[in-house]
Amino acid sequence: MEICRDTGSMIALSDRWRAEGKPIVLVATMGALHEGHLTLVSRARDWLSERGGGRVVTSIFVNPTQFGEAEDLAKYPRTEEADTALLSGAGVDAIFLPGVADIYLPGAQTIVDVTGLSRVLMGKLRPGHFRGVATVVTKLFNITGCDAATFGEKDYQQLTLVRQMVRDLNTRVEIIAVPTVREADGLAMSSRNQRLTPEDRAAAPVLSRSLDRAQEVAASGGTIAAIRREVVAVLAGEPRGEVQTIDICRASDLSGISGQPNQPVVVLLAVRFGGVLLIDQRVCAPSA
Ligand code: PAF
Repeated sequence: MEICRDTGSMIALSDRWRAEGKPIVLVATMGALHEGHLTLVSRARDWLSERGGGRVVTSIFVNPTQFGEAEDLAKYPRTEEADTALLSGAGVDAIFLPGVADIYLPGAQTIVDVTGLSRVLMGKLRPGHFRGVATVVTKLFNITGCDAATFGEKDYQQLTLVRQMVRDLNTRVEIIAVPTVREADGLAMSSRNQRLTPEDRAAAPVLSRSLDRAQEVAASGGTIAAIRREVVAVLAGEPRGEVQTIDICRASDLSGISGQPNQPVVVLLAVRFGGVLLIDQRVCAPSA
């Protein structure tokens, strides 16, 4: 497994790989890796096997431009040694571990802004966040020269926004969506889970329970209002969680929907436990 600590060495490695004619898949992360990230890597490997093989590169970069002022960038967990050990066991071919100054060059004037999807839903809660994501993802695509990239469905708005961006900019990178990986009690895996107190950790599976309920209501022909009502009721049963947003949108493009859905909808939750904001989502199919 190769480790590239700057853009130049990553580009040189990617050029060498590309000369071999095999595809490259990027698994972009901010480190603090867990089982969910390893599932992204394993999906990347499967995608490559289906195409006769190739290389997986995982980037680890805590991207400052996607953190708001109130969010503590400095507190974001950094576990490079453990991450490297996990990735080497997972069969990754290279890790790209750039520094901030390497990614954000002095005098840079260009940002990538997916103007609609950046400003709705979680974008309202975290102004500037998705602009930071879109900009860094574009850079990571360009530096690694990847043919495909995995994105978790857990960050559903991010996944939808990256798909839109690739479409809008004619970027020749295939986006591979990977279902959310959950703990045994249903809590979606996230680096943020480590920051929960034991009491909040015990309470947090209420998110997935409320999403299970949403799926049941949708499958039995419930309206958007009925789905919302049931999600609110389940979440209200756990007072430790401070609900920030409950959004129910068309799963295809995150546009608004009301009445009885005749196409899949996605329920997007953001719930705060102490200082930790947890998100989760479920795509719910309506009754056939
Ligand atoms: O999902 C994440 O970990 C980040 O938003 C990403 C895609 C690595 C960009 O910094």
